[in-house]
Amino acid sequence: MTRWPAEAIWETVAPLLPGFTVEILPEIDSTNTELMRRARAGQTEPVLLVAESQTAGRGRLGRDWRSAPGASLTFSMSLPLALADWSGLSLAVGLSLATSLHPDIGLKWPNDLWWQERKLAGILIETAALGAARQVVIGVGVNLAPPPDADGLRTPAAGLQELLPAMDPGATLGRLVEPLVRTLKSFETSGFLPFVASYRERDVLQGREVVLSDGVQGVARGVDTDGALLVHTAAGLQRVTSSDVSVRPRSDTHL
Ligand code: BTN
Repeated sequence: MTRWPAEAIWETVAPLLPGFTVEILPEIDSTNTELMRRARAGQTEPVLLVAESQTAGRGRLGRDWRSAPGASLTFSMSLPLALADWSGLSLAVGLSLATSLHPDIGLKWPNDLWWQERKLAGILIETAALGAARQVVIGVGVNLAPPPDADGLRTPAAGLQELLPAMDPGATLGRLVEPLVRTLKSFETSGFLPFVASYRERDVLQGREVVLSDGVQGVARGVDTDGALLVHTAAGLQRVTSSDVSVRPRSDTHL
Protein backbone atom coordinates (compact mmCIF):
# COMPACT_ATOMS: atom_id res chain seq x y z
CA MET A 1 0.00 0.00 0.00
CA THR A 2 1.46 3.31 -1.06
CA ARG A 3 1.17 6.21 1.39
CA TRP A 4 0.40 9.32 -0.65
CA PRO A 5 1.40 12.74 0.77
CA ALA A 6 -1.77 14.33 -0.63
CA GLU A 7 -2.32 16.80 2.22
CA ALA A 8 1.28 17.95 2.37
CA ILE A 9 1.26 18.56 -1.39
CA TRP A 10 -2.04 20.41 -1.19
CA GLU A 11 -0.73 22.65 1.60
CA THR A 12 2.33 23.74 -0.37
CA VAL A 13 0.67 24.06 -3.78
CA ALA A 14 -2.75 25.59 -2.96
CA PRO A 15 -1.19 29.00 -2.09
CA LEU A 16 0.47 29.01 -5.53
CA LEU A 17 -2.56 27.73 -7.45
CA PRO A 18 -5.90 28.90 -5.98
CA GLY A 19 -8.58 26.21 -6.27
CA PHE A 20 -5.99 23.41 -6.48
CA THR A 21 -7.13 19.89 -5.57
CA VAL A 22 -5.39 16.52 -5.28
CA GLU A 23 -7.06 13.24 -6.28
CA ILE A 24 -5.61 9.76 -5.85
CA LEU A 25 -7.41 6.96 -7.71
CA PRO A 26 -6.77 3.22 -7.47
CA GLU A 27 -7.31 2.76 -11.21
CA ILE A 28 -8.18 4.74 -14.34
CA ASP A 29 -7.61 4.39 -18.07
CA SER A 30 -5.08 7.23 -18.18
CA THR A 31 -4.63 10.28 -15.97
CA ASN A 32 -3.94 12.39 -19.08
CA THR A 33 -7.03 11.09 -20.88
CA GLU A 34 -9.19 11.83 -17.82
CA LEU A 35 -7.88 15.38 -17.35
CA MET A 36 -8.24 16.11 -21.08
CA ARG A 37 -11.87 14.87 -20.87
CA ARG A 38 -12.45 17.26 -17.97
CA ALA A 39 -10.71 20.16 -19.74
CA ARG A 40 -12.86 19.66 -22.84
CA ALA A 41 -15.93 19.63 -20.56
CA GLY A 42 -14.88 23.06 -19.26
CA GLN A 43 -13.33 22.02 -15.91
CA THR A 44 -10.36 24.34 -15.54
CA GLU A 45 -9.54 24.29 -11.82
CA PRO A 46 -5.94 23.18 -11.23
CA VAL A 47 -5.83 19.50 -10.28
CA LEU A 48 -3.26 16.84 -9.56
CA LEU A 49 -4.56 13.39 -10.51
CA VAL A 50 -2.56 10.36 -9.41
CA ALA A 51 -3.44 6.80 -10.43
CA GLU A 52 -2.06 3.73 -8.70
CA SER A 53 -2.79 1.82 -11.89
CA GLN A 54 -3.54 2.86 -15.48
CA THR A 55 -5.29 0.48 -17.87
CA ALA A 56 -4.56 2.53 -21.00
CA GLY A 57 -1.51 4.68 -20.22
CA ARG A 58 -0.36 6.77 -23.15
CA GLY A 59 3.10 7.93 -24.20
CA ARG A 60 4.23 10.45 -26.79
CA LEU A 61 3.68 9.86 -30.50
CA GLY A 62 0.69 7.58 -29.90
CA ARG A 63 2.69 4.97 -28.03
CA ASP A 64 1.53 2.99 -24.97
CA TRP A 65 2.93 3.70 -21.51
CA ARG A 66 3.08 0.54 -19.42
CA SER A 67 3.59 0.68 -15.69
CA ALA A 68 3.20 -1.72 -12.79
CA PRO A 69 1.33 -0.61 -9.63
CA GLY A 70 3.76 0.01 -6.78
CA ALA A 71 6.73 -0.04 -9.15
CA SER A 72 5.89 3.21 -10.90
CA LEU A 73 4.47 6.66 -10.36
CA THR A 74 1.84 7.90 -12.80
CA PHE A 75 0.23 11.32 -12.45
CA SER A 76 -1.00 14.32 -14.40
CA MET A 77 -1.37 18.00 -13.53
CA SER A 78 -3.99 20.12 -15.24
CA LEU A 79 -4.01 23.91 -15.05
CA PRO A 80 -4.79 26.93 -17.24
CA LEU A 81 -1.67 28.61 -18.65
CA ALA A 82 -1.55 31.83 -20.63
CA LEU A 83 1.69 31.56 -22.56
CA ALA A 84 2.92 33.89 -25.28
CA ASP A 85 5.42 31.22 -26.37
CA TRP A 86 5.03 27.52 -25.65
CA SER A 87 8.39 26.48 -27.04
CA GLY A 88 10.59 24.84 -24.46
CA LEU A 89 7.76 24.05 -22.01
CA SER A 90 8.31 20.30 -22.15
CA LEU A 91 12.07 20.76 -21.66
CA ALA A 92 11.47 22.96 -18.61
CA VAL A 93 9.14 20.31 -17.16
CA GLY A 94 11.75 17.57 -17.67
CA LEU A 95 14.40 19.77 -16.11
CA SER A 96 12.21 20.42 -13.07
CA LEU A 97 11.64 16.69 -12.50
CA ALA A 98 15.30 15.75 -12.99
CA THR A 99 16.48 18.54 -10.68
CA SER A 100 14.04 17.41 -7.97
CA LEU A 101 15.26 13.82 -8.12
CA HIS A 102 19.04 13.56 -8.55
CA PRO A 103 22.06 15.42 -9.98
CA ASP A 104 23.03 12.37 -12.07
CA ILE A 105 19.76 12.22 -14.02
CA GLY A 106 20.13 13.44 -17.60
CA LEU A 107 17.63 14.75 -20.13
CA LYS A 108 17.16 13.29 -23.57
CA TRP A 109 15.55 15.87 -25.85
CA PRO A 110 12.81 16.81 -25.72
CA ASN A 111 11.91 15.66 -22.24
CA ASP A 112 12.80 12.09 -21.29
CA LEU A 113 14.67 11.54 -18.04
CA TRP A 114 17.64 9.26 -18.54
CA TRP A 115 20.05 7.53 -16.21
CA GLN A 116 22.96 5.42 -17.39
CA GLU A 117 21.71 5.35 -21.01
CA ARG A 118 18.27 4.13 -19.96
CA LYS A 119 14.89 5.84 -19.69
CA LEU A 120 13.75 6.58 -16.16
CA ALA A 121 10.72 8.76 -16.82
CA GLY A 122 8.60 10.17 -19.63
CA ILE A 123 6.40 13.23 -20.00
CA LEU A 124 3.27 13.70 -22.13
CA ILE A 125 2.00 17.28 -22.49
CA GLU A 126 -1.38 17.96 -24.06
CA THR A 127 -3.46 21.12 -24.27
CA ALA A 128 -7.08 22.11 -24.80
CA ALA A 129 -8.29 25.53 -26.03
CA LEU A 130 -9.80 27.71 -23.31
CA GLY A 131 -10.66 31.16 -24.62
CA ALA A 132 -7.49 33.25 -24.73
CA ALA A 133 -5.58 30.81 -22.50
CA ARG A 134 -5.11 27.05 -22.83
CA GLN A 135 -5.62 24.27 -20.35
CA VAL A 136 -2.44 22.25 -20.17
CA VAL A 137 -2.30 18.65 -18.99
CA ILE A 138 1.16 17.48 -18.00
CA GLY A 139 1.45 13.71 -17.58
CA VAL A 140 4.43 12.13 -15.88
CA GLY A 141 5.38 8.46 -15.66
CA VAL A 142 8.37 7.51 -13.49
CA ASN A 143 9.68 3.94 -13.33
CA LEU A 144 10.54 3.07 -9.73
CA ALA A 145 11.72 -0.31 -10.94
CA PRO A 146 12.20 -1.15 -14.62
CA PRO A 147 8.84 -2.42 -16.02
CA PRO A 148 8.59 -6.24 -16.22
CA ASP A 149 8.28 -6.19 -20.03
CA ALA A 150 11.15 -3.72 -20.42
CA ASP A 151 12.98 -6.05 -22.82
CA GLY A 152 10.52 -5.19 -25.60
CA LEU A 153 10.96 -1.42 -25.25
CA ARG A 154 12.68 0.68 -27.91
CA THR A 155 14.80 2.32 -25.23
CA PRO A 156 15.98 0.23 -22.26
CA ALA A 157 14.29 1.24 -19.00
CA ALA A 158 15.85 2.22 -15.69
CA GLY A 159 14.21 2.39 -12.26
CA LEU A 160 14.60 5.26 -9.80
CA GLN A 161 15.18 2.77 -6.98
CA GLU A 162 18.43 1.69 -8.67
CA LEU A 163 19.64 5.21 -7.97
CA LEU A 164 17.65 6.05 -4.83
CA PRO A 165 16.67 2.74 -3.16
CA ALA A 166 14.46 4.35 -0.50
CA MET A 167 12.11 6.04 -2.97
CA ASP A 168 8.55 4.76 -3.30
CA PRO A 169 5.77 6.26 -5.46
CA GLY A 170 4.47 8.51 -2.66
CA ALA A 171 7.87 9.89 -1.69
CA THR A 172 8.69 10.48 -5.36
CA LEU A 173 5.44 12.38 -5.90
CA GLY A 174 6.13 14.42 -2.77
CA ARG A 175 9.45 15.59 -4.22
CA LEU A 176 8.16 16.48 -7.66
CA VAL A 177 4.93 18.44 -7.49
CA GLU A 178 5.71 21.74 -5.75
CA PRO A 179 8.91 22.39 -7.78
CA LEU A 180 6.98 21.49 -10.94
CA VAL A 181 4.30 24.07 -10.15
CA ARG A 182 6.98 26.69 -9.41
CA THR A 183 8.61 25.87 -12.75
CA LEU A 184 5.29 26.34 -14.56
CA LYS A 185 4.69 29.70 -12.86
CA SER A 186 8.19 30.84 -13.76
CA PHE A 187 7.77 29.61 -17.34
CA GLU A 188 4.51 31.53 -17.59
CA THR A 189 6.28 34.81 -16.82
CA SER A 190 9.76 34.28 -18.31
CA GLY A 191 9.59 31.42 -20.85
CA PHE A 192 12.42 28.94 -21.47
CA LEU A 193 15.41 31.29 -21.49
CA PRO A 194 16.15 31.15 -17.72
CA PHE A 195 16.24 27.32 -17.96
CA VAL A 196 18.64 27.00 -20.91
CA ALA A 197 21.91 26.80 -18.97
CA SER A 198 20.60 24.16 -16.54
CA TYR A 199 19.10 22.14 -19.40
CA ARG A 200 22.45 22.12 -21.18
CA GLU A 201 24.15 20.70 -18.07
CA ARG A 202 21.88 17.64 -18.19
CA ASP A 203 21.66 17.23 -21.98
CA VAL A 204 22.68 13.59 -22.66
CA LEU A 205 22.71 14.06 -26.44
CA GLN A 206 25.27 16.87 -26.53
CA GLY A 207 28.09 15.95 -28.92
CA ARG A 208 26.62 12.56 -29.78
CA GLU A 209 25.59 11.14 -33.12
CA VAL A 210 21.82 11.07 -33.46
CA VAL A 211 19.32 9.80 -35.99
CA LEU A 212 16.10 11.73 -36.48
CA SER A 213 12.91 9.84 -37.27
CA ASP A 214 12.96 11.23 -40.83
CA GLY A 215 16.30 9.46 -41.36
CA VAL A 216 18.48 12.57 -41.11
CA GLN A 217 21.67 11.90 -39.16
CA GLY A 218 24.04 14.29 -37.47
CA VAL A 219 25.74 15.33 -34.27
CA ALA A 220 23.63 16.90 -31.52
CA ARG A 221 24.89 20.37 -30.66
CA GLY A 222 22.72 21.22 -27.67
CA VAL A 223 19.52 23.22 -27.49
CA ASP A 224 18.76 26.70 -28.77
CA THR A 225 17.41 29.41 -26.47
CA ASP A 226 13.85 28.41 -27.46
CA GLY A 227 14.42 24.71 -26.75
CA ALA A 228 14.94 23.58 -30.36
CA LEU A 229 17.46 20.76 -30.71
CA LEU A 230 20.47 21.77 -32.79
CA VAL A 231 21.84 19.02 -35.02
CA HIS A 232 24.90 19.37 -37.19
CA THR A 233 24.09 17.41 -40.37
CA ALA A 234 25.70 17.04 -43.79
CA ALA A 235 23.46 19.93 -44.91
CA GLY A 236 24.59 22.20 -42.07
CA LEU A 237 23.13 23.08 -38.67
CA GLN A 238 19.45 22.10 -38.39
CA ARG A 239 16.97 23.28 -35.77
CA VAL A 240 14.66 20.43 -34.76
CA THR A 241 11.40 21.59 -33.19
CA SER A 242 8.75 19.21 -34.44
CA SER A 243 7.30 16.95 -31.78
CA ASP A 244 7.01 14.05 -34.21
CA VAL A 245 10.77 13.79 -34.56
CA SER A 246 12.33 11.21 -32.29
CA VAL A 247 15.97 11.37 -31.49
CA ARG A 248 18.17 8.74 -29.99
CA PRO A 249 21.82 7.96 -29.76
CA ARG A 250 22.94 6.03 -32.81
CA SER A 251 24.19 3.20 -30.58
CA ASP A 252 20.60 2.56 -29.45
CA THR A 253 19.18 2.58 -32.93
CA HIS A 254 18.08 -0.65 -34.54
CA LEU A 255 18.14 0.12 -38.25
C1 BTN B 1 6.57 9.16 -23.05
O1 BTN B 1 7.71 9.01 -22.61
O2 BTN B 1 6.24 8.78 -24.17
C2 BTN B 1 5.56 9.86 -22.18
C3 BTN B 1 5.03 8.96 -21.11
C4 BTN B 1 4.00 9.65 -20.22
C5 BTN B 1 3.34 8.68 -19.28
C6 BTN B 1 2.46 9.36 -18.28
S1 BTN B 1 1.90 8.27 -17.02
C7 BTN B 1 0.78 9.47 -16.44
C8 BTN B 1 0.19 10.14 -17.66
N1 BTN B 1 -0.95 9.38 -18.14
C9 BTN B 1 -0.72 8.82 -19.33
O3 BTN B 1 -1.52 8.10 -19.95
N2 BTN B 1 0.50 9.15 -19.76
C10 BTN B 1 1.20 10.01 -18.82
